[in-house]
Amino acid sequence: MHESTASNLRSAFGGESMAHMRYLVWADKADRDALPNVGRLFRAVSRAEQAHATNHFLAMAKEAGGFLVPSGGMFGYGTTAENLKGALEGELGEINEMYPAYLAVAKFQQEKQAERSMTWALEAEKAHAALYERALKSVQAGRDVELGAVQICTVCGYTAEGDAPDFCPLCGAKKEKFQTFA
Ligand SMILES: [Fe+2]
Ligand SMILES: [Fe+2]
Repeated sequence: MHESTASNLRSAFGGESMAHMRYLVWADKADRDALPNVGRLFRAVSRAEQAHATNHFLAMAKEAGGFLVPSGGMFGYGTTAENLKGALEGELGEINEMYPAYLAVAKFQQEKQAERSMTWALEAEKAHAALYERALKSVQAGRDVELGAVQICTVCGYTAEGDAPDFCPLCGAKKEKFQTFA
């Protein structure tokens, strides 16, 4: 694998791994703040980030060894509104900066598996940003977010509210591959 793409995948793996954990921490905080739907949203999105991290890791299965990995990620443990703001900012950074730049490199280097893994992540992050923005507005208005069942494709991290589709619109996985957070 070309070194630039491998390096970008490692960085994205780090970012997704941190997001996975950070959202679990913030989910527990939302539960303590009596915002159970925000907690459920954080847990669902955390599961999607796990899928992204896994796919990035597998895309560089042959790149074995130890590396120091710089990864962007949000820190802080504030009110749930502040945590949602951090979550939204992190997702927007991935959508507007990180993944478009990494994808351009992967395409240029014709790294197909990396391109697929990054595309799946980029598309899911757009759904995450929209959900976090909605949740933030609700919490800022003093109430928990109204939220239906959240469906996560465990293959690609596709995220949607409502019923699970028969086939994932992003990766084509069957309904059985979806995990429901209701
Ligand atoms: Fe995300
Ligand atoms: Fe999928």
